[in-house]
Amino acid sequence: MTKRVKVLVPYQAEIADAIQQVLGDNAIVVRSERSAEDMLRHGSDAQVVVSSRIPREYLLHARGLSMIQTFGAGVDKIDLDLLRERGDVILCNSHVNAPEVAEYAISLLLALAKNLVLSDRELRRGDWRYTWGGPRPNIEVRGRTCLILGLGHIGREVAERLRALGVTVKAATRSGISPSSYLVSEVVSIENVRPLVREADFVILTLPLTRESRGLVNREFISWMKSTALLVNVARGEIVNEKDLFEALRDGRIAGAAIDAWWQYPKVWGGSGCFPSVYPYHELDNVIMSPHRAAFSEGIRDEQTRFVGENILRFLRGETPLNIVDLHRGY
Ligand SMILES: NC(=O)c1ccc[n+]([C@@H]2O[C@H](COP(=O)([O-])OP(=O)(O)OC[C@H]3O[C@@H](n4cnc5c(N)ncnc54)[C@H](OP(=O)(O)O)[C@@H]3O)[C@@H](O)[C@H]2O)c1
Repeated sequence: MTKRVKVLVPYQAEIADAIQQVLGDNAIVVRSERSAEDMLRHGSDAQVVVSSRIPREYLLHARGLSMIQTFGAGVDKIDLDLLRERGDVILCNSHVNAPEVAEYAISLLLALAKNLVLSDRELRRGDWRYTWGGPRPNIEVRGRTCLILGLGHIGREVAERLRALGVTVKAATRSGISPSSYLVSEVVSIENVRPLVREADFVILTLPLTRESRGLVNREFISWMKSTALLVNVARGEIVNEKDLFEALRDGRIAGAAIDAWWQYPKVWGGSGCFPSVYPYHELDNVIMSPHRAAFSEGIRDEQTRFVGENILRFLRGETPLNIVDLHRGY
């Protein structure tokens, strides 16, 4: 292999150190803050950047850049038009968080179906009225039908788990086909999703945010859903129209939603003082609110740093790295 290349990691020192360990003598890892200014100060000459959020200003000036590697999945915070114009950078996801995100999606679905959060809240006040009461009985998950939008890395893990729960699983993808179609009883293209939405008891979003998927779950889409349906979003907030979903939940046009991916975030990841929507989702009892932690599990950091380091090594050896993003499709 290989000359010693510079890898910029705009994360904490322990993450940069863990990646350095995997890369060994093949690369020198430097770290920075996440601002364009600091990234340029420490890594304007980096060949590789490890992040899923890269300021446009950095991409404009980092002329030696040839690879961007993310820790997870989703490249909607990277200017793909600019990368296409440059034509000299490959962008790779890791997708190693897919099983964990799928477990979390199932947890959200069950918690919503079984009224877990509300029941907990009431019993903490000494109130037992949820024993055989509350806004509705628990929803039986077995025997129901679930529609998964996106049957990629997360979607197929969700499908496997739903089958074990006795759920009939259907899916919609962009193309209408999927290598994981054997896991579900029907796959359609997203243009033909309407009949599947009409029959679904649960809808789970596991598709990337792209030009095509932005605002996909809007008033019209929601109008096709059963009034008893539950929605789970572990993908990205902007796939859903914020106002349309809020009004549908408030007015009881669908039964509930469990949301991990939102429309508004604090300036600093993990910060405070910021509601996740301009609409008061926090006032709705039929909503479970989760602060984008679906992938935050015990082992994830080790798994991600190992994958990231090994994928960079593949690239440095001249092999094709795994999970290259199609810059036109956006995933
Ligand atoms: N909550 C979290 O912490 C968390 C963690 C990880 C990821 N995510 C989000 O989840 C997304 C999906 O992750 P993944 O690893 O499963 O990605 P992925 O494997 O790239 O997902 C691809 C799947 O989505 C489908 N798809 C793409 N555009 C679509 C559209 N417009 N309509 C319907 N289906 C469409 C693809 O269809 P084709 O097969 O036809 O191409 C494919 O089945 C990420 O992009 C990210 O935004 C969230």
